[in-house]
Amino acid sequence: MHIFKRVSHLRDFIKDRKTEGKHIGFVPTMGALHQGHLSLVSVSLEECDITIVSIFVNPLQFNDPNDLKLYPRPLESDIQMLVNSKADVLFLPEVDDIYPPGSEKTLDFDPGSLASVMEGKFRPGHFNGVAQVMFRLLSIVEPERLYMGQKDFQQLAIVRKLITDKNLHTILVMCPILREPNGLAMSSRNVRLSPAARKEAGIIYNTLSEALRDFEEGVAISEIKEKSLRALTRKDFVPEYFEIVDGLDLEDVADNHASQFIVACCAVKVEGVRLIDNMIWTEN
Ligand code: PAJ
Repeated sequence: MHIFKRVSHLRDFIKDRKTEGKHIGFVPTMGALHQGHLSLVSVSLEECDITIVSIFVNPLQFNDPNDLKLYPRPLESDIQMLVNSKADVLFLPEVDDIYPPGSEKTLDFDPGSLASVMEGKFRPGHFNGVAQVMFRLLSIVEPERLYMGQKDFQQLAIVRKLITDKNLHTILVMCPILREPNGLAMSSRNVRLSPAARKEAGIIYNTLSEALRDFEEGVAISEIKEKSLRALTRKDFVPEYFEIVDGLDLEDVADNHASQFIVACCAVKVEGVRLIDNMIWTEN
């Protein structure tokens, strides 16, 4: 596996591969890799000639400085996992490579209401930071295909709009959520949970599943939301939201027939660690 730290070195490599007619797949990450990340890598390996993974803990998307400080950075084991996964390239830039001193840190992109609901409400500025880094990374890598996880459903919606608005020529591929055996969505943050809380956090998946059953039985959306928030309120668990939205515009869905693409999304603080999860309920 090639490891590039400098943007110019990566660009040269990509240019040569593109001249050879190779298709590039790109998996952006912030490291602390787990099987969820690696599942994206393996889809890219199947569909593309060259798979590039980036690890960059993007300071701009952390609204909580403590979260940035505590973000796990196990670089050696990340590299080993990527070597084992057979990824072709690891792009490992420093902050100054992505945000050169003096460079403009604003991006002419308006995610609109996509960024003001759910995560946007609880993490002001977060999606600005995501859009900023994604625009920079996509401008460097210019991949034919971009692999991102359904796990961060709202992030996907925003990146989809970024690609459209900025007229970027990349196909966004949404990959399914990988879960731990108890249903907890895999996340780099899970290592910060105590073993007991990590086990109990399976309740998030159970709540989404139970809510789906209620939805299929025709229970009113408002009732499902209330019941789910109640189920997620327990010792060391503080739910932030449980929303049922349209999968494209992220607007609230008012009743069971209001949209063809319905997704339930939630965020819960468990022992102070913010966990997000979602489940696609209908997709036509
Ligand atoms: P990070 O949290 O490291 O996630 C990188 C990618 O892995 C994202 O597309 C995310 O949705 C996906 N992913 C995370 N957990 C997953 C799981 N359990 N199953 C499947 N895929 C999963 O998301 C980011 O980094 C950053 O915001 C980034 C896009 C890199 C921009 O900085």
